[in-house]
Amino acid sequence: MISVRGVSKSFGSQVVLSRLNLEVEQGRTTTIVGPSGAGKSVLLKLIMGILSADEGEIDVCGYSVTNASSEAEKNQIRENLGVLFQSAALFDSLTVYDNIAFPLTQCKLQSREQAHERVVSLARSLSLVKYLNKLPQEVSIGIRKRVGLARALAVEPKVLLFDEPNTGLDPLVGQEVYDLIAESQKNQGFTGVVISHELPEVFQVSDRVVMLLRGKIIMEGTPDDFLSTDNPEVVQFLHGYVDGPIRIQ
Ligand SMILES: Nc1ncnc2c1ncn2[C@@H]1O[C@H](COP(=O)(O)OP(=O)(O)OP(=O)(O)O)[C@@H](O)[C@H]1O
Ligand SMILES: [Mg+2]
Repeated sequence: MISVRGVSKSFGSQVVLSRLNLEVEQGRTTTIVGPSGAGKSVLLKLIMGILSADEGEIDVCGYSVTNASSEAEKNQIRENLGVLFQSAALFDSLTVYDNIAFPLTQCKLQSREQAHERVVSLARSLSLVKYLNKLPQEVSIGIRKRVGLARALAVEPKVLLFDEPNTGLDPLVGQEVYDLIAESQKNQGFTGVVISHELPEVFQVSDRVVMLLRGKIIMEGTPDDFLSTDNPEVVQFLHGYVDGPIRIQ
């Protein structure tokens, strides 16, 4: 579904990713974990074609992101990708309804009536009906997350990317976001990529976990593999120990 092969990315002299390989399987959720600055968001931006790799290849749903040269080609690939950014990134001047409708009206794949039906059906399944006429600042952060998820789901993407879906949320709302991810995954069957610091909580929505460190994937496995490993770097990260092989930046 997503294939990353031998991808490197540097900013000036800073090597962020170094010949990285990653395969994301269809219909499952892969979680990318790693300390702050490890390059998780950079990897996500490379997959979306927002940044370009220095070397290597990335395919999404059979399309080559790395060879896509025109914006039209990149847009074709992005039609398969839904993204829920950190802080939900809603449009402040648009109502909840218009935020959810935005990708539908923008890509013009659907008529106004079809778009309306889709918005209402998403609002029903995510319990957003009573907020449709509100502006983002008039609703709680938990509701904003739900709106962000509804907007990401609107075009029925094959792949959904979540960049730290829970950062800044209290534990109850955070749990609600995980429940929403799990439930919409079950109903819509997308391939998920979740970036998170929240260990071990994020494991509940992970089929597969990869840990990024020093530009490489240092471990790949199931949540159980991570919980039972004796790899000192993984153990340090999982438990948040200050002392250990990973130097805090
Ligand atoms: N556009 C850019 N220009 C220069 N440096 C960048 C750029 N984007 C990212 N970086 C650098 O690349 C490194 C990795 O950044 P990235 O945002 O991917 O980290 P991250 O793993 O997502 O961290 P966090 O968990 O804090 O979000 C950082 O040192 C960052 O400063
Ligand atoms: Mg990040």
